[in-house]
Amino acid sequence: MKKIFCLYLLVCLSVIHLYSQELTFSQHISPIIFSKCSPCHHLDGSAPFALISYNEVAEMSKMIDYVVEKNIMPPWHHDPKFHSFYNEIILSPDEKESLRNWIANGKVPGDLSSIKHPTFKPKAKDKPDLVFAMDKKYTVKAKETDEFTWFQIPYVFKDTTYFKSVWLKTAFPKIEHHGEVFSNAFVDRPKDVWPSDSIVQNPIINTAMTSTETKGSLFQGKKFVAGRFPATDAWQYPKGIVECIEPGRNLMVYGHYAPVAVDEADSASIELKFCKKKPTDRTYIELGVHGFHDLVNKPFFIKKDTVITFYCEKVVDKDYSAFLVLPHAHHICTKMLAYAVSPNGDTLPLVKIDKWIFEWQFLYQFKKYVPLKRGTKLFFQATYDNTASNPANHNSPPIDVNTSMNANDEMMDLFIHVVPYQEGDEDKLLEYDY
Ligand code: HEC
Repeated sequence: MKKIFCLYLLVCLSVIHLYSQELTFSQHISPIIFSKCSPCHHLDGSAPFALISYNEVAEMSKMIDYVVEKNIMPPWHHDPKFHSFYNEIILSPDEKESLRNWIANGKVPGDLSSIKHPTFKPKAKDKPDLVFAMDKKYTVKAKETDEFTWFQIPYVFKDTTYFKSVWLKTAFPKIEHHGEVFSNAFVDRPKDVWPSDSIVQNPIINTAMTSTETKGSLFQGKKFVAGRFPATDAWQYPKGIVECIEPGRNLMVYGHYAPVAVDEADSASIELKFCKKKPTDRTYIELGVHGFHDLVNKPFFIKKDTVITFYCEKVVDKDYSAFLVLPHAHHICTKMLAYAVSPNGDTLPLVKIDKWIFEWQFLYQFKKYVPLKRGTKLFFQATYDNTASNPANHNSPPIDVNTSMNANDEMMDLFIHVVPYQEGDEDKLLEYDY
């Protein structure tokens, strides 16, 4: 009995010690900030200000408390209990509590000299092998309609080029609704214009992207390579998966600009990372579930002042292994759910997003392959709130919303990246940092 009492006392004391322990920036808070905030909040990061040093964090503490309490930051809004992803950045309940308590208790610095600040410099292996950048800015004229523009990159690949990532970057995400990169048979190529050196020796090519008509032979055999949506970064393949550009082909970019009130200038670039040797790996396939084709409760039409959920279903026709999903909708979508049911009745979670926000469209990289065998049924549902109480509704008062690619219409897409299934895929951990 005495022993049990002593044990009880010990547990009580250690709990009290944990709670009374003073939270300091140097010991407890900086590891959370560096891993969950600084990856975007650093000088060259996607966020508009840095959160690395004590002063930077202390100065923003009121805002930080607000965005953490309201689950605004970090901006991943999926349910990690449904499916947790390789690249997700989320705060655990303990980390949230520590951050908020530290702020409430006077932001104690601790021993600042003991902190090792992260630098976020790209590692040598992460440097792109080839970069195409616009020579001059492209002006998007003020207008009330969307603009869809093709840009061609007049660089012809001489050899079959295997690559592991493609990153379409835009300097002005505010106006670019989305972009896509295609490889294309460059039929009208100018002769002898391009350097004969191998492209790897000649890594940075500052090439004008010339706007092109969407007609004619230029577009024969175009093949999708990569996309860009708000917040997506490099279109990256895990180890063992590659894409390739065949000889004689060039790249083209399809730019979709949302309507703008004043003229705006955009500049874009494409960064490619190659696989140095010819791989024996699998090439990726796009297996999509789309509102345009797979809708169960047609038509895809969202009447003003209503909230509606749409359902898509699709049966998988071959044996595949999925490694990534990219859900896509526009502004009035509020939540999404996607899963698969295998022929033997197992439910395979894909993604559940509880708060859809247009500005945060991530590539959800899986930690392990999800096998999607022939006969598996894919289920995808999305809810749209076309009422005045949805702050993301651009129309005040609300108007009926149709489906189209235009920014003020709606879409419902789930891009699923897969490869042909191989025995044992479901047990393989996917590796991206190689
Ligand atoms: C995936 C990248 C990313 C991560 C991770 C991230 N942020 Fe942000 N954050 C942004 C971007 C981009 C903005 C500016 C755009 C916006 O406000 O939506 C921003 C804005 C903010 C703002 C200003 C909000 C406002 O309304 O102006 C605060 C405060 C903030 N972040 C704090 C944090 C904290 C604290 C963390 C970590 C717990 C964090 N962020 C993690 C990208 C990120």
